[in-house]
Amino acid sequence: MRGWQAVICGITSVVLAGGGLFAGDNTPANAVATGPAVYVPDTAHQNDPLPDGVLAWDGLTKETNAAADAEAARFTFNFTNVSPGQVVILSVYPGCSCTTFQLPPLPWILPPGSTGQFGVTVNLAGKTGLLFKAPKITTDRGFKQLMLKITILPPVMPTESEADRAHALEIAKADRQVVFRGDCMACHVKPGEGKYGKSLYDTVCAICHEGEHRSSLVPDLHNIITPTNLSFWQTWIAHGKAGSLMPAFSTSDGGPLSDIQITSLAQYLALTIPSQLNKYK
Ligand code: HEC
Ligand code: HEC
Repeated sequence: MRGWQAVICGITSVVLAGGGLFAGDNTPANAVATGPAVYVPDTAHQNDPLPDGVLAWDGLTKETNAAADAEAARFTFNFTNVSPGQVVILSVYPGCSCTTFQLPPLPWILPPGSTGQFGVTVNLAGKTGLLFKAPKITTDRGFKQLMLKITILPPVMPTESEADRAHALEIAKADRQVVFRGDCMACHVKPGEGKYGKSLYDTVCAICHEGEHRSSLVPDLHNIITPTNLSFWQTWIAHGKAGSLMPAFSTSDGGPLSDIQITSLAQYLALTIPSQLNKYK
């Protein structure tokens, strides 16, 4: 049921976004010469649902799984004009700022029997879990609502053998910064390069803090018993804690993260892990 609520939300925003776009699309400047006659878009039916028997689709609902660090999900829609007359695609409504269409210039005129293809791309930056998007396409015979379902998969954690892990733990106990050097970098540093916010957390922090087989010395960040805020996160990330396994990530402390990366992480964590103090207010 939750999925449909998300879809309905999408439709509402589509309609809202539509208002602004129409004005431009209706101006005569957008009319395109097609052969001998000048084509004037017929917008009389653009707010009616497209009747059956006009466009045949390879699917109106498309689903995909995306890796946790995927930047975008891409969909392709194929259709055929199965009606006896031409169909004109007048406009498209992404429904949210994260969605874009890839299609020929509009109006797109489809003679009877012709086929068409367009792409829809959903930017996944900052997104997690299950996403529903409802972009819309408007023709001179009516509009068609498309449905997109994207499942963003949980991040894939690297795994280590028991022996390697025990060895790593021993040398990290002697020097907590050793995770940022030598062979350790392949799992503890490289995956976070050039990343920010959530995707940086999923790579450089989750490896220790969300690890299934992690040492009991590594606390659960979702259950910190002291109050937290932006500077709490910033300080822990930048400096860690001497004498523990929590390394210092700031470059000034010999770590791999820039100040901007640290701030992006602190902001992400302050937003997604509410302070326990606030919970009881
Ligand atoms: C090498 C493993 C490791 C990595 C990588 C790591 N941590 Fe830690 N972290 C620890 C350990 C161990 C502790 C417990 C320190 C102690 O003994 O108090 C800790 C403690 C913390 C604490 C304090 C929790 C509390 O209960 O007060 C915060 C906050 C924290 N880590 C955030 C992060 C963030 C954010 C990242 C990613 C930038 C990160 N850690 C990466 C091992 C790690
Ligand atoms: C193949 C990937 C990989 C490499 C290489 C690696 N680690 Fe880890 N490390 C992990 C994973 C995964 C965890 C989380 C615990 C688990 O699930 O095994 C972890 C956890 C840790 C922890 C937290 C304590 C614990 O065991 O839970 C420390 C400290 C640590 N690693 C240090 C190191 C050091 C030091 C090196 C280099 C000698 C290193 N790691 C190399 C994958 C790696």
